Amino acid sequence: MAYLLGIDIGTSGTKVLAIDETGKVAASAAAEYPLLTPRPLWAEQNAEDWWAATCACLQSVLATVPAAEVAGIGLSGQMHGLVMLDANHEVIRPAILWCDQRTQAQCDYITQTVGKETLVAETANPVLTGFTAPKIIWVRDNEPKFYERARMHLLPKDYIRFKLTGEFATEVSDASGTSLLNVPERRWSDVVLNKLQISKEHLPKVYESYEVSGKVSGAGAAATGLKAGTPVVGGGGDQAAGAVGNGIVQSGIISVTTGTSGVVFAFADKPTIDPDLRVHTFCHAVPNKWHVMGVMLSAGGSLRWYRDALGAPEKRVAGLTQMDPYDIISREAATVPAGSEGLLFLPYLTGERTPHPDPHARGAFVGLTVRHTKAHLARAVLEGVSFGLRDSLEILKSMNVSIGNVRASGGGARSDLWRQIQADVFNFPLSTINVDEGPALGVALLAGVGAGIYSTVEEACSAIIKVMSSTAVSKDAAIYEKYYSVYRALYPVLREQFATIGELEA
Ligand code: XUL
Repeated sequence: MAYLLGIDIGTSGTKVLAIDETGKVAASAAAEYPLLTPRPLWAEQNAEDWWAATCACLQSVLATVPAAEVAGIGLSGQMHGLVMLDANHEVIRPAILWCDQRTQAQCDYITQTVGKETLVAETANPVLTGFTAPKIIWVRDNEPKFYERARMHLLPKDYIRFKLTGEFATEVSDASGTSLLNVPERRWSDVVLNKLQISKEHLPKVYESYEVSGKVSGAGAAATGLKAGTPVVGGGGDQAAGAVGNGIVQSGIISVTTGTSGVVFAFADKPTIDPDLRVHTFCHAVPNKWHVMGVMLSAGGSLRWYRDALGAPEKRVAGLTQMDPYDIISREAATVPAGSEGLLFLPYLTGERTPHPDPHARGAFVGLTVRHTKAHLARAVLEGVSFGLRDSLEILKSMNVSIGNVRASGGGARSDLWRQIQADVFNFPLSTINVDEGPALGVALLAGVGAGIYSTVEEACSAIIKVMSSTAVSKDAAIYEKYYSVYRALYPVLREQFATIGELEA
């Protein structure tokens, strides 16, 4: 039997999934690590923690799946993060993550130095605080000693590839989020690199996502239990990989994924750019295809904040009853009518990207009265995040992206209540699929293409992924339509005050 492995280096933890050729899950393992926030707006992780988690998960999976029968491995992970290695291939400083917001000054510098039009023509996107290039420039500006030592700039999953194979390689979907890739042509942009004076020698080689980028080395095998020589394919950034795992490999199907971030993702046959640059245009993990996506920074992250800040009793009950605290919070939220009796939540807890690229944006509850209970706050959080996702859907509609079918995935899709709220807020039925393994499944399928088990990514998806259930739009959609206009009006009114609060805090 041939097995395929998918490794996903997420923000809260790493997951390793093993599937057999029919797509059946043979084993999986997960391990968590901390998120470091040394200052407000900063978010870092130790790359060594990812590697330790990967080794532990692989050892656990390989206790069930014989290493000799692993036909291929795919890598996925949180996008945009910066891992800097020195000449000895040692990590120089903690990785700066996708949700880190420290780089506004560097974004302004890049836009000015490259020129906005050139930047968009080359990279298909504006440069945003979460992207990788401004992180490189931030280290150059603020930690010159570290910068001078740097010989290689890697994305999170590509550091794991290096540890596994000894190769410096990346692939088009993740590289799209660096602001250094020529996205239409799927290669590093000489124009941008020259203008920013970043050496191409300090960047890994770019592959298509299904291509074999290296083989497990002796050292990689010793650390993990894998067999030396096992092929490792390019893989994908978590969103493109998750989209493959959701079967978003043709026009007309959109996915809405609520993990820590919230992503509305659409397939594109050609590089399709929003004239107002509100959504990202990146290479897809399908060869010669692209995708358009809107990214909210705190979707599931908002609910996690609620659980951690206000959910101590729910956590206690969950501990006693073996329930998930999120299920208890969901049940409480379900006791409140749609619209949370006039309470709205703005989900900008870590700043925002789509549709408001603003590191200073903040969360807010608006409309509180003495009538409101904790259950109202919980429901308002679920609704506010759904309104934020609808903002991205509206942008896709305005770009004439065809929306025939919306698939819900991620933690948010597991809650019946949250799925219903999303269907009603979007005014669009939501479907779910038979598999719920996200990016790890997507890259395991890409590994299957690289290993020759499937001939194309599309074939791999149609062999494994089936639509299961659908959540229809309910009468509450009419209520949400009205509250959505209020929601949309709130950020523009509060924007300046958010910036002022940021200055007061500085
Ligand atoms: C995508 C993005 C997030 C991260 C973390 O642009 O920033 O989805 O990849 O999941």
